[in-house]
Amino acid sequence: MNNDANTYAVDHRGGADMQRLIDQDHLMNQTMGDLFPQDIDPSGLHSVLDVACGPASWILQVAFKYPYLSAVGFDISQQMINYGRAFATVRKLSNVELRVMDALRPWDFEDATFDFVNARLLEWFLKEHQWLPLLQEMLRVTTPGGTIRSTEILTNETNSPAFNRILALIWEGWKRDGRASQTAPDTYAGAGTRLSAMFAQTGISITGEQEYHLDWSWGAPAHQQIMRDIVVLYTLMQSYLVHTVQVVKEQEYQLLLQTMERELYAPEFQGIWHYKSVWGRKPL
Ligand SMILES: C[S@@+](CC[C@H](N)C(=O)[O-])C[C@H]1O[C@@H](n2cnc3c(N)ncnc32)[C@H](O)[C@@H]1O
Repeated sequence: MNNDANTYAVDHRGGADMQRLIDQDHLMNQTMGDLFPQDIDPSGLHSVLDVACGPASWILQVAFKYPYLSAVGFDISQQMINYGRAFATVRKLSNVELRVMDALRPWDFEDATFDFVNARLLEWFLKEHQWLPLLQEMLRVTTPGGTIRSTEILTNETNSPAFNRILALIWEGWKRDGRASQTAPDTYAGAGTRLSAMFAQTGISITGEQEYHLDWSWGAPAHQQIMRDIVVLYTLMQSYLVHTVQVVKEQEYQLLLQTMERELYAPEFQGIWHYKSVWGRKPL
């Protein structure tokens, strides 16, 4: 599909991103209520794939909760996959397989292998022109009648000027290196805003859509957790913003990070994180 080098906008080398993704997975699963959409009966599933699974948190839970099905995940990061494999060994999960693989190249799976294919938060490495080929690859490996689900961010609304400035910088960076089109809105509009259209373009008939709105204002149960997630995420994006897309100077970014942390800790802080899942069927 594409020969681009690793395009993940987050510096994942030190392991901090892995811990962040594990924490974030718990929060997202809690908000989403279940591992599968409401209209999917997991007892009818045989094999499930998680694309760019990170430290494999979601797929490991699937393997644990539904021991009769075959659970497969892949990610480009050897470190994340090693973590997932170690966890699977400790939990004695024999129905899970984790592989190192690049989602931007043709996948090493036969056609029609999985009856549920999941993908979450791919915006952090996918460029605009890579979305449809990737959805087509998801469709290819799905059994006829099987389900494809994608979950992505819509936006993150806050009253923190420093947070909002960094989000604007990310958006500028996305536009500069082709993660968002030049004709996209002026303010950050995550890939979640385009999922339904992209599903339709790929020929996936949509069977469900669900938006999630997570309050992380000061005092809300999710405040501490999302704040930690954001502080780590934005710190790990410094190299991408300063050196790769060059939308901000290092000193200015450092200052923004410090100011943001203060603003997120203030009792008047208000924030709502919006994200969305879209799922649909591969035609019979
Ligand atoms: C934002 S994380 C999301 C991880 C997981 N889907 C989740 O929801 O927790 C993005 C993941 O994509 C992986 N990644 C980046 N580029 C990739 C590529 N070309 N192929 C496969 N995985 C990739 C990263 O290593 C990282 O684990």
